This record gives sequence, C-alpha cells and structure tokens, in this order.
Amino acid sequence: MDKDIEKVLFTEEEIAEKVRELGRILSKEYEGKNPLVICVLRGGAPFMTDLVRRMDIPLEMDFMAVSSYGASTQSSGVVRIMKDLDTSVEGRHVIIVEDIIDSGLTLSYLIDIIRRRNAASVKVVTLLDKPARRTVDLKPDYCGFEIPDAFVVGYGLDYAEKYRNLPYIGILKPEVYS
Ligand code: XMP
Ligand code: MG
Repeated sequence: MDKDIEKVLFTEEEIAEKVRELGRILSKEYEGKNPLVICVLRGGAPFMTDLVRRMDIPLEMDFMAVSSYGASTQSSGVVRIMKDLDTSVEGRHVIIVEDIIDSGLTLSYLIDIIRRRNAASVKVVTLLDKPARRTVDLKPDYCGFEIPDAFVVGYGLDYAEKYRNLPYIGILKPEVYS
C-alpha cells in the first residue's frame, strides 16, 4: 500500500500525540456528563476507538453509518442513514466523531438530526478538516489537523474501501484514482 502514497502528512506518532491532546481536552470538558460518543462509520472508527481510550471519564459509545462517496472522491451531496444509533440521544451530551470534514454536508445533516432528537448538546470532533472545500457554514468544535485540498487516505480514510488500515495519513498518488 505504501507505494500508492505520494506523501505522508501525519505519522502514527503525530496522530497518537494529537489524539492524546484531544482526549485530555474532552475529558475536562465532559467530566460528570457521561457523554454519548458517536462514531461516524466507517472512516471515523480508528480515530474514535483511539480517542475514547484517551478519555479517562465515564462515557458511552454508539455508531452510525451514512452514505458517503462510494468509490468516487467527490461528495454526491446525498446523505442517507445506512445504520442508525441504538441509543436514544434525548437529554444526552453528544460528541460526534468524524475522520474528516470536507464539504460539511454529511456532518451538518447529522447535527441537524441529533438536535431534532433533543440531545442536551451536540459537538463535533474531527481528526482532519479541509476548510477550503466547505460548502455549508460549519466549524468543528475540536479539530486535530487542518489540511489542504488533497485526497488523503489512512487511519480510517479510504479510497474505494482500501487503505483504511494504514497507521499513518498520506496523500494518495493521483494516478491511483485517475
Ligand atoms: P463531506 O463533504 O460531507 O464529506 O464533509 C465527509 C466525508 O467525505 C469523505 N472524504 C474523504 N475520504 N479522503 C477520504 O478517504 C479524503 O480526502 C476525503 N475527503 C472527504 C469522508 O468519508 C468524510 O466522512
Ligand atoms: Mg466518513
């Protein structure tokens, strides 16, 4: 898989340090609130499972899947719930964990649904943010790294379901998808 990577953006160690930092911040913020930490499948899974292990407070985990890019690198703009939560969010302090925010369409839709289900609060933590590509007005509450407009893979992020298991995050060689 390494041969398909043009450039490593964040090493395994850099990611681990950032996750520790975010875990510390969230632990303070959510002390005594028993937050419901929601992973947006599938890309958010490695980040979420690492992050919760850096939060030394009681919390609950749940998982949600929404339609994403499929085998393309462009957002379709169509967001569909493929797997809903098993937990009620009513009155809960919700933390949505995302791998990356691009246009922001996926997340603004999710935030909207969870607010309408009467969560006590909804915040977003994303590992990566591509602010240059935003088409809706949305800022993550907590962000690991801002990145330029390039297609990245690894640590949960895929191209056509591949590369999610890379321990680092890198830019994919354009010839791989063009
Ligand atoms: P939107 O545009 O709704 O998209 O903010 C968020 C989702 O798009 C996927 N995405 C990427 N996946 N490398 C990826 O592997 C990327 O560079 C990339 N940019 C967007 C991702 O699934 C994210 O949840
Ligand atoms: Mg995703």
